[in-house]
Amino acid sequence: MKALVYQGPGKKAWQDVPPPRIQHPTDVIVRIDTTTICGTDLHILKGDVPAVTPGRILGHEGVGVVTEVGSSVTTLAVGDNVIISCIKSCGHCIFCKQGIFAHCLGDEGAVGIGWVFGHLIDGTQAEFVRVPYAETSVYKVPPRVTNQQGVLLSDILPTGFEIGVQYGQTKPGDVVAVIGAGPIGLAVIMTAGLYGAARIISIDLDANRIAQARKFGASDGVNSGDADWKQQVMALTDGWGVDVAVEAVGIPDTFEMATQIVRPGGHVANVGVHGKPVALRLQDLWIHNITISMGLVNTNTTPMLLRLIAEGRLDVDKFVSHRFKLDDMLAAYDTFGRAAETKALKVIIER
Ligand SMILES: NC(=O)c1ccc[n+]([C@@H]2O[C@H](COP(=O)([O-])OP(=O)(O)OC[C@H]3O[C@@H](n4cnc5c(N)ncnc54)[C@H](O)[C@@H]3O)[C@@H](O)[C@H]2O)c1
Ligand SMILES: [Zn+2]
Ligand SMILES: [Zn+2]
Repeated sequence: MKALVYQGPGKKAWQDVPPPRIQHPTDVIVRIDTTTICGTDLHILKGDVPAVTPGRILGHEGVGVVTEVGSSVTTLAVGDNVIISCIKSCGHCIFCKQGIFAHCLGDEGAVGIGWVFGHLIDGTQAEFVRVPYAETSVYKVPPRVTNQQGVLLSDILPTGFEIGVQYGQTKPGDVVAVIGAGPIGLAVIMTAGLYGAARIISIDLDANRIAQARKFGASDGVNSGDADWKQQVMALTDGWGVDVAVEAVGIPDTFEMATQIVRPGGHVANVGVHGKPVALRLQDLWIHNITISMGLVNTNTTPMLLRLIAEGRLDVDKFVSHRFKLDDMLAAYDTFGRAAETKALKVIIER
């Protein structure tokens, strides 16, 4: 079969590899019909994620049809159309029982890390993929949901909702600021309305991304390249700052920005993946009764988000900016990797 293989920093190839086989009784094999590329894949290709070693098939988002099931699998059958969650879950360890699948203790890939596809085991940017702990790690696609909608639930929608909106404890009437309007920030913006945010301010350096954010539910946009960006944000509140400041970039500057605009008693929800230490002005912040949260997505909200999509309550198709065939994987990477020029958001890659 063909797959997108990481060959060390800066190097990748769409090449022939042996197809995956069932290795454990709880595995299934899925034929990938729809996949996509995440900003995290670009981080890996830059060499930012050293746990990914040359030879690894990348990708942690995918939808497809089960073609083979392990001997202990009873609730999935050949022919089922399933969403592969970016987080594996064994279903019975202490963390899975708490719904913290991000830290599943199942020993597939690594103990204590839920994100294994395209990281510690072979991923979804391939014609076929082996899915461990399949019964608790995939979701059947309901009749009124398309593969394209389903693949947006592998990672970005649950991430934005769980780590941005829920961890930020968004409540009715809140003013929510979202720093970064990439797919993840836009997923926060799209789902903040579910908890009744009154005002959603999109903050980015890229005017095109801010314009996009309005289509996803942002009521206001502020360009953080403006010298008075902070005053612009404050003017959209009662003067005391935002209730929830979500960081969806992953650099020290934007985390600092979130702590500057949050009101006393408010929440800073960090979603970004950071590669460098961040200075925390605890000497100023302690007296403001601020809660700071962070985390790896659990994907425990996938069934709920799936119901909203099936009922037409979340218009996730607007995330899709480009469409490719599996064999055009390298062109898809090129388009996604030059998002500022190509205006790419999510690139859908289909069989
Ligand atoms: N916590 C999790 O479980 C989890 C899961 C998936 C992704 N992530 C992380 O979420 C973050 C966002 O992902 P994405 O795919 O949307 O990324 P992206 O690169 O597509 O988007 C980032 C956005 O931030 C903007 N930006 C950059 N510098 C800025 C600044 N100084 N001020 C304002 N805006 C600025 C960019 O213009 C861009 O629009 C990444 O760090 C990613 O690794 C976290
Ligand atoms: Zn991802
Ligand atoms: Zn587990």
